Amino acid sequence: MNMSYKNLTYEIQNRINIIAINRPEKLNALNMQTFSEIDHAVKLSIANSDIRLIIITGVGEKAFIAGADIKELVSFTMEQAFELSESGHKILSETIENSPKPIIAAINGYALGGGLEIAMACHIRIASENSKMGMPEVSLGLIPGYGGTQRLPQLIGKGRAMDMIMTGKMIDANEALAFGLINYKTSQEQLMIFTKDLAKRILLNSSNGIKNAIKSVNANYIDGINGYGVEINEFSKCFETKEFIEGTTAFLNKRDPDFN
Ligand code: COA
Repeated sequence: MNMSYKNLTYEIQNRINIIAINRPEKLNALNMQTFSEIDHAVKLSIANSDIRLIIITGVGEKAFIAGADIKELVSFTMEQAFELSESGHKILSETIENSPKPIIAAINGYALGGGLEIAMACHIRIASENSKMGMPEVSLGLIPGYGGTQRLPQLIGKGRAMDMIMTGKMIDANEALAFGLINYKTSQEQLMIFTKDLAKRILLNSSNGIKNAIKSVNANYIDGINGYGVEINEFSKCFETKEFIEGTTAFLNKRDPDFN
């Protein structure tokens, strides 16, 4: 199935859904239509039982997403900005970060501002060596508005996050790897090959186990929630699944599990 979106390409290959932001002439800048298409596409994939993993990337060789569309922001009032930020937070948190299916960001170039914020909401980040990542908002008289002030310190630590946010500087894939901002760095040619290969390795495992693990890890970052308690619940729930029976039976019979 190939869905048609104005600013995205959407394809499914071997149970993997590849969503690519497709406004390369604007460096895949995130206007409101693109943002709502991403939300729609990810929700559609989560609801589709033929899909087990989602990859988000950008079309072209230059950009993943070069941030929110500045042309659109320029005339916003405070009330409109509040709504924009609030709805963006909902998409990044509820649709992407808390997706029960793994979401990998394949960063193929500039990941700035809202682009880096989307990548940070994904579960795993892989960047090609030409990538540049940064939070340039203060250079526009703004601050990150899609969770960047929270997720960046979670991923790289407060001091480095303060530095990136206050200077607005861009870092390359080597530095991002050293910071733990990305999980892997590849050549430009290898980015999608490596990403699909990693996806295939993840797909060998129990999708129910992965879903429960995502929920448990994310629980650590929700105020007022005891993550250890969530883990106990999610762990015990696994024992009522066919995948638990398959995984343990396969191990005891010295064969590979088949979770498909
Ligand atoms: N919003 C709107 N348009 C954007 C954009 C954004 N965030 N980022 C790039 N574009 C547009 C440019 O306006 C240009 O459009 P045009 O050809 O109609 O003038 C096109 O994309 C190409 O960008 P350009 O600036 O010419 O490319 P470059 O290679 O010289 O520079 C960047 C690349 C990423 C350094 C530069 O585009 C940039 O700084 N973008 C803004 C990044 C930013 O501040 N993002 C955070 C927003 S909150």
